[in-house]
Amino acid sequence: MNIYKINGGRTLRGSVEIDGAKNAALPIIAASLLTKDVCLLGNMPKLKDVDNMLLIAGHIGSNFDCDITNSIVRIETSKIINSEIGYNLAAKLRASFLFAGALLAVNGYVKIAMPGGCDIGLRPIDLHLKGFNLMGAEAVKDGGFVTLNAPMGLHGAEVYLDFPSVGATENIMIAATAAAGKTTIKNAAAEPEIVDLANYLCEMGADIVGAGSDTIEIKGKKQLRGTIYNIVPDRIEAGTFMAAAGAVGGDITVKKVNPVHLEPVTLKLREAGITVEEGSDFVRVISGGRGSVRPIDIRTLPYPGFPTDMQAQMTALLTQANGTSLITETIFENRFQYVGELNRLGAVIKLNERTAVVSGVEKKEKPFLTGTAVEATDLRGGAALVIAALSAKGETRVCNTEFIERGYSDLAGKLSLLGADIISYREC
Ligand code: EPZ
Repeated sequence: MNIYKINGGRTLRGSVEIDGAKNAALPIIAASLLTKDVCLLGNMPKLKDVDNMLLIAGHIGSNFDCDITNSIVRIETSKIINSEIGYNLAAKLRASFLFAGALLAVNGYVKIAMPGGCDIGLRPIDLHLKGFNLMGAEAVKDGGFVTLNAPMGLHGAEVYLDFPSVGATENIMIAATAAAGKTTIKNAAAEPEIVDLANYLCEMGADIVGAGSDTIEIKGKKQLRGTIYNIVPDRIEAGTFMAAAGAVGGDITVKKVNPVHLEPVTLKLREAGITVEEGSDFVRVISGGRGSVRPIDIRTLPYPGFPTDMQAQMTALLTQANGTSLITETIFENRFQYVGELNRLGAVIKLNERTAVVSGVEKKEKPFLTGTAVEATDLRGGAALVIAALSAKGETRVCNTEFIERGYSDLAGKLSLLGADIISYREC
């Protein structure tokens, strides 16, 4: 089991460089199957989820090389040798289901085990299947597998998403690049990672307009070509460092970001009394930490609303605020599992259905959070425990950091360079 040992109470100073976005890299790897040519993907983050996505691509027939030093992945899928993805592979991450759209596009057939992922909610795939059905594919669910068949090939369709699902928008967009005719996705997700995927597909020769809005139009093409593409910076990794500095205090510069993508986080941090200065490709965060943070209310929403992937990190920050904050999670039904572990550190958080009521440190005699052993239950919840541990008095051991390593590359190393007392080690 991998563990972070953290001695809290130290402010963060200096600068940190952000990697490419996990949630753009994963659909882009799946979309690379749409061409037989070579694709070169730059700014590729070094993450467990990326490794597992490439493992599945390799199972399907892709050849890939990873240049870790330069964060480049070369991927080439000259032929598909496997259109069936078993549970052992698919269960490694939810994004495995994005290969469904790619395989439907390329050879009209896929059999894939139901996706895995963080236990933050039911995470159904009904909207993905709705889109595939409307485009002419038959879906059969049996024994934990979904088999999709489009013997006549895919055709354009108008798909209304009952919820602006990120994954369903991506899967349908990928499949539609090969459908005969035009596909329109209504009530589409508008996250920056959707735009990045659309930009990548257009670089490959796809005809897509409207990505980043609630209506995306895709005109199918016979063949897509290889390309060279740099993945967009990870707005959630960046936001995690911003929330950490807000919680423990200090002055950090977060580099290699797109400040526009950080806007919801920047604006809420400013509401909380934390200074955020924006540059062209960096943000600077200055905070007095505990006792100088103002309580705020947060409601997670689809982009450009406040990102659900920053909900846990902000809860950890707001345990240091002067007063009570309300955090409402509207996207996933089970995304407060980490709260119990925060309360073991001394936080006072009550859950009321989808709202966390976070008591702050308004009473001076209120103790600091106090270090102890805690367990990560999912990726972003784990990041929240790290932020709380940085604010706590004494030593905290965060266990199961494998969850964290799915979405953060060398989080401990980067925090250590900012002055945190944190080491990562493996306990057998
Ligand atoms: C993507 O997950 C991200 N993962 C998640 O990030 C992120 O939290 C989420 O989008 C929302 O922004 C990747 O991109 C790999 P959804 P996804 O489909 O696509 C419901 C992280 O921490 N829904 O937008 O699975 C679903 O139940 C991860 O990096 C349906 O009802 O999210 C949920 O309530 C966690 N039917 C809501 O939509 C469907 O067919 C949002 O899910 C699909 C989804």
